[in-house]
Amino acid sequence: MTTHKKLIAGNWKMNGGIAANDALVRAVVAGLQDTACTVAVCVPAPYLAQVQMLRHGSPLELGAQDVSSHEQGAFTGEVSAAMLKDFGVRYAIVGHSERRQYHGETDQLVADKARAALAHGITPIVCVGETLAEREAGHTEEVVKRQLAAAIHTNGHCISEIVVAYEPVWAIGTGRTATPEQAQQVHAVLRAQLRAATEHAERVVILYGGSMNAANAASLLAQPDIDGGLIGGASLKAADFLQIIAAAR
Ligand code: PGA
Repeated sequence: MTTHKKLIAGNWKMNGGIAANDALVRAVVAGLQDTACTVAVCVPAPYLAQVQMLRHGSPLELGAQDVSSHEQGAFTGEVSAAMLKDFGVRYAIVGHSERRQYHGETDQLVADKARAALAHGITPIVCVGETLAEREAGHTEEVVKRQLAAAIHTNGHCISEIVVAYEPVWAIGTGRTATPEQAQQVHAVLRAQLRAATEHAERVVILYGGSMNAANAASLLAQPDIDGGLIGGASLKAADFLQIIAAAR
Protein backbone atom coordinates (compact mmCIF):
# COMPACT_ATOMS: atom_id res chain seq x y z
CA MET A 1 0.00 0.00 0.00
CA THR A 2 1.20 3.47 -0.75
CA THR A 3 1.81 6.06 1.90
CA HIS A 4 0.49 9.43 0.79
CA LYS A 5 -2.59 11.47 0.02
CA LYS A 6 -4.30 10.85 -3.29
CA LEU A 7 -3.78 13.43 -6.06
CA ILE A 8 -6.52 14.56 -8.42
CA ALA A 9 -5.07 16.71 -11.22
CA GLY A 10 -7.15 18.38 -13.89
CA ASN A 11 -5.65 18.69 -17.35
CA TRP A 12 -7.52 21.47 -19.10
CA LYS A 13 -5.56 20.88 -22.34
CA MET A 14 -6.08 23.77 -24.82
CA ASN A 15 -9.37 24.86 -23.31
CA GLY A 16 -10.42 27.88 -21.31
CA GLY A 17 -10.68 31.62 -21.48
CA ILE A 18 -10.62 34.45 -18.97
CA ALA A 19 -14.33 34.31 -18.13
CA ALA A 20 -14.67 30.52 -18.20
CA ASN A 21 -11.56 30.03 -16.03
CA ASP A 22 -12.87 32.50 -13.50
CA ALA A 23 -16.17 30.65 -13.10
CA LEU A 24 -14.56 27.21 -13.08
CA VAL A 25 -11.81 27.92 -10.56
CA ARG A 26 -14.13 29.81 -8.23
CA ALA A 27 -16.57 26.87 -8.24
CA VAL A 28 -13.79 24.31 -7.67
CA VAL A 29 -12.24 26.32 -4.84
CA ALA A 30 -15.66 26.76 -3.20
CA GLY A 31 -16.15 22.99 -3.26
CA LEU A 32 -12.75 22.10 -1.82
CA GLN A 33 -13.58 22.31 1.87
CA ASP A 34 -12.47 19.29 3.90
CA THR A 35 -10.87 17.66 0.89
CA ALA A 36 -8.86 14.63 1.86
CA CYS A 37 -6.74 14.59 -1.30
CA THR A 38 -4.39 16.99 -3.06
CA VAL A 39 -6.07 18.80 -5.95
CA ALA A 40 -4.37 20.57 -8.86
CA VAL A 41 -5.35 22.12 -12.16
CA CYS A 42 -2.88 22.08 -15.07
CA VAL A 43 -3.80 25.11 -17.15
CA PRO A 44 -2.60 26.63 -20.44
CA ALA A 45 0.52 28.76 -19.82
CA PRO A 46 -1.12 32.14 -20.55
CA TYR A 47 -3.59 31.55 -17.71
CA LEU A 48 -1.11 30.60 -15.00
CA ALA A 49 -1.13 34.10 -13.53
CA GLN A 50 -4.91 34.31 -13.58
CA VAL A 51 -5.39 30.94 -11.90
CA GLN A 52 -2.62 31.66 -9.42
CA MET A 53 -4.61 34.70 -8.27
CA LEU A 54 -7.94 32.86 -8.25
CA ARG A 55 -6.59 30.02 -6.12
CA HIS A 56 -4.88 32.31 -3.65
CA GLY A 57 -5.48 31.20 -0.08
CA SER A 58 -7.11 27.92 -1.14
CA PRO A 59 -5.66 24.39 -1.15
CA LEU A 60 -5.92 24.21 -4.97
CA GLU A 61 -2.47 23.61 -6.48
CA LEU A 62 -1.34 24.99 -9.82
CA GLY A 63 0.11 22.95 -12.67
CA ALA A 64 1.43 23.47 -16.19
CA GLN A 65 0.93 21.15 -19.16
CA ASP A 66 4.52 21.12 -20.40
CA VAL A 67 7.94 22.54 -19.58
CA SER A 68 11.09 23.10 -21.59
CA SER A 69 14.01 20.73 -21.11
CA HIS A 70 16.29 23.79 -21.42
CA GLU A 71 17.24 26.27 -18.73
CA GLN A 72 16.88 29.49 -20.75
CA GLY A 73 17.94 31.13 -23.99
CA ALA A 74 17.18 30.92 -27.70
CA PHE A 75 14.25 28.50 -27.61
CA THR A 76 11.37 30.46 -29.14
CA GLY A 77 8.00 29.48 -27.80
CA GLU A 78 9.32 27.43 -24.89
CA VAL A 79 8.54 28.03 -21.22
CA SER A 80 11.21 27.21 -18.65
CA ALA A 81 10.77 25.56 -15.28
CA ALA A 82 12.10 28.72 -13.58
CA MET A 83 9.35 30.75 -15.28
CA LEU A 84 6.70 28.29 -14.10
CA LYS A 85 8.12 28.49 -10.61
CA ASP A 86 7.69 32.28 -10.70
CA PHE A 87 3.94 31.70 -11.01
CA GLY A 88 3.63 29.27 -8.13
CA VAL A 89 3.48 26.16 -10.27
CA ARG A 90 3.85 22.94 -8.29
CA TYR A 91 3.25 20.35 -11.04
CA ALA A 92 4.10 20.09 -14.73
CA ILE A 93 2.72 17.39 -16.99
CA VAL A 94 5.47 16.01 -19.22
CA GLY A 95 5.18 13.55 -22.08
CA HIS A 96 1.43 13.63 -22.43
CA SER A 97 0.50 11.32 -25.31
CA GLU A 98 -0.78 14.31 -27.28
CA ARG A 99 2.68 15.86 -27.10
CA ARG A 100 4.36 12.57 -27.96
CA GLN A 101 2.00 12.10 -30.91
CA TYR A 102 1.64 15.63 -32.31
CA HIS A 103 5.00 17.11 -31.31
CA GLY A 104 7.24 14.10 -31.72
CA GLU A 105 8.39 14.04 -28.10
CA THR A 106 10.68 11.11 -27.43
CA ASP A 107 11.15 9.17 -24.20
CA GLN A 108 14.49 10.93 -23.70
CA LEU A 109 13.07 14.42 -24.23
CA VAL A 110 10.31 13.65 -21.75
CA ALA A 111 12.91 12.43 -19.23
CA ASP A 112 14.92 15.63 -19.76
CA LYS A 113 11.80 17.74 -19.19
CA ALA A 114 11.19 15.87 -15.95
CA ARG A 115 14.75 16.63 -14.89
CA ALA A 116 14.36 20.34 -15.70
CA ALA A 117 11.18 20.49 -13.61
CA LEU A 118 12.76 18.68 -10.65
CA ALA A 119 15.76 21.01 -10.74
CA HIS A 120 13.37 23.89 -9.98
CA GLY A 121 11.30 22.15 -7.34
CA ILE A 122 8.41 21.39 -9.68
CA THR A 123 6.94 17.89 -9.60
CA PRO A 124 6.79 16.43 -13.11
CA ILE A 125 3.76 14.30 -13.92
CA VAL A 126 5.39 11.85 -16.32
CA CYS A 127 2.79 10.33 -18.64
CA VAL A 128 3.13 6.84 -20.05
CA GLY A 129 0.68 4.68 -21.95
CA GLU A 130 0.17 2.36 -24.87
CA THR A 131 -1.83 2.86 -28.04
CA LEU A 132 -4.67 0.51 -28.94
CA ALA A 133 -2.48 -1.22 -31.54
CA GLU A 134 0.25 -1.75 -28.94
CA ARG A 135 -2.25 -3.19 -26.45
CA GLU A 136 -3.77 -5.51 -29.04
CA ALA A 137 -0.31 -6.71 -30.01
CA GLY A 138 0.38 -7.57 -26.36
CA HIS A 139 3.04 -4.86 -25.95
CA THR A 140 1.48 -2.80 -23.16
CA GLU A 141 4.01 -3.65 -20.45
CA GLU A 142 6.98 -3.30 -22.75
CA VAL A 143 5.85 0.16 -23.89
CA VAL A 144 5.12 1.65 -20.49
CA LYS A 145 8.31 0.17 -19.01
CA ARG A 146 10.39 1.64 -21.83
CA GLN A 147 8.80 5.06 -21.29
CA LEU A 148 9.34 5.00 -17.53
CA ALA A 149 12.86 3.57 -17.87
CA ALA A 150 14.03 6.72 -19.65
CA ALA A 151 12.81 8.88 -16.76
CA ILE A 152 14.45 6.56 -14.21
CA HIS A 153 17.74 6.48 -16.07
CA THR A 154 17.90 10.26 -16.47
CA ASN A 155 16.71 11.23 -12.99
CA GLY A 156 18.52 8.72 -10.79
CA HIS A 157 17.61 8.82 -7.11
CA CYS A 158 15.29 11.82 -7.75
CA ILE A 159 12.87 9.41 -9.39
CA SER A 160 11.00 9.04 -6.10
CA GLU A 161 10.03 12.73 -6.45
CA ILE A 162 8.08 12.33 -9.69
CA VAL A 163 4.42 11.57 -10.26
CA VAL A 164 3.67 8.95 -12.91
CA ALA A 165 0.44 9.02 -14.92
CA TYR A 166 -0.64 5.85 -16.68
CA GLU A 167 -2.82 6.99 -19.55
CA PRO A 168 -3.73 4.34 -22.10
CA VAL A 169 -3.95 6.32 -25.34
CA TRP A 170 -7.09 4.46 -26.39
CA ALA A 171 -8.87 5.69 -23.25
CA ILE A 172 -8.04 9.40 -23.58
CA GLY A 173 -11.02 11.51 -24.55
CA THR A 174 -12.80 8.46 -25.96
CA GLY A 175 -15.20 7.65 -23.14
CA ARG A 176 -13.59 4.21 -23.13
CA THR A 177 -12.03 3.83 -19.69
CA ALA A 178 -9.64 1.07 -18.72
CA THR A 179 -11.34 -1.28 -16.27
CA PRO A 180 -10.05 -0.98 -12.70
CA GLU A 181 -8.39 -4.39 -13.18
CA GLN A 182 -6.69 -3.39 -16.45
CA ALA A 183 -5.43 -0.17 -14.90
CA GLN A 184 -4.26 -1.83 -11.65
CA GLN A 185 -2.35 -4.44 -13.63
CA VAL A 186 -0.28 -1.77 -15.38
CA HIS A 187 0.10 0.31 -12.21
CA ALA A 188 1.52 -2.76 -10.45
CA VAL A 189 4.05 -3.19 -13.26
CA LEU A 190 5.10 0.45 -12.93
CA ARG A 191 5.32 0.17 -9.13
CA ALA A 192 7.54 -2.90 -9.44
CA GLN A 193 9.79 -1.04 -11.87
CA LEU A 194 10.04 1.86 -9.42
CA ARG A 195 10.83 -0.55 -6.57
CA ALA A 196 13.80 -1.81 -8.52
CA ALA A 197 15.02 1.79 -8.93
CA THR A 198 14.38 3.32 -5.51
CA GLU A 199 13.66 2.25 -1.97
CA HIS A 200 11.00 4.99 -1.89
CA ALA A 201 8.76 3.51 -4.58
CA GLU A 202 5.74 3.41 -2.26
CA ARG A 203 6.01 7.18 -2.01
CA VAL A 204 5.57 7.67 -5.75
CA VAL A 205 2.08 8.77 -6.74
CA ILE A 206 0.85 6.83 -9.78
CA LEU A 207 -2.20 8.40 -11.42
CA TYR A 208 -4.63 6.84 -13.83
CA GLY A 209 -5.87 8.97 -16.72
CA GLY A 210 -8.22 8.33 -19.62
CA SER A 211 -11.94 9.08 -19.50
CA MET A 212 -12.02 9.11 -15.72
CA ASN A 213 -15.32 10.58 -14.61
CA ALA A 214 -17.70 10.93 -11.68
CA ALA A 215 -19.19 7.50 -12.34
CA ASN A 216 -16.02 5.42 -12.64
CA ALA A 217 -13.60 7.28 -10.36
CA ALA A 218 -14.37 5.46 -7.11
CA SER A 219 -13.74 1.96 -8.49
CA LEU A 220 -10.49 3.03 -10.17
CA LEU A 221 -9.27 4.86 -7.06
CA ALA A 222 -10.03 1.82 -4.90
CA GLN A 223 -7.22 -0.14 -6.57
CA PRO A 224 -4.12 -0.57 -4.41
CA ASP A 225 -1.67 1.05 -6.83
CA ILE A 226 -3.92 3.80 -8.20
CA ASP A 227 -3.05 6.91 -6.21
CA GLY A 228 -5.18 9.44 -8.03
CA GLY A 229 -6.30 10.64 -11.43
CA LEU A 230 -5.30 12.88 -14.31
CA ILE A 231 -8.59 14.23 -15.53
CA GLY A 232 -9.13 15.83 -18.93
CA GLY A 233 -12.69 16.44 -20.09
CA ALA A 234 -14.30 16.02 -16.67
CA SER A 235 -12.02 18.67 -15.15
CA LEU A 236 -13.68 21.36 -17.24
CA LYS A 237 -16.95 21.06 -15.35
CA ALA A 238 -16.72 21.98 -11.68
CA ALA A 239 -19.48 19.62 -10.57
CA ASP A 240 -17.90 16.62 -12.32
CA PHE A 241 -14.41 17.47 -11.10
CA LEU A 242 -15.64 17.90 -7.53
CA GLN A 243 -17.40 14.53 -7.65
CA ILE A 244 -14.14 12.86 -8.67
CA ILE A 245 -12.35 14.70 -5.86
CA ALA A 246 -14.99 13.48 -3.42
CA ALA A 247 -14.36 9.91 -4.58
CA ALA A 248 -10.65 10.23 -3.72
CA ARG A 249 -10.87 9.55 -0.01
P1 PGA B 1 -9.65 12.58 -20.60
O1 PGA B 1 -8.13 13.06 -20.73
O2 PGA B 1 -9.97 12.53 -19.13
O3 PGA B 1 -10.46 13.62 -21.34
O4 PGA B 1 -9.73 11.23 -21.24
C1 PGA B 1 -7.16 12.64 -19.81
C2 PGA B 1 -5.82 13.20 -20.23
O5 PGA B 1 -5.53 13.24 -21.43
O6 PGA B 1 -5.01 13.60 -19.37
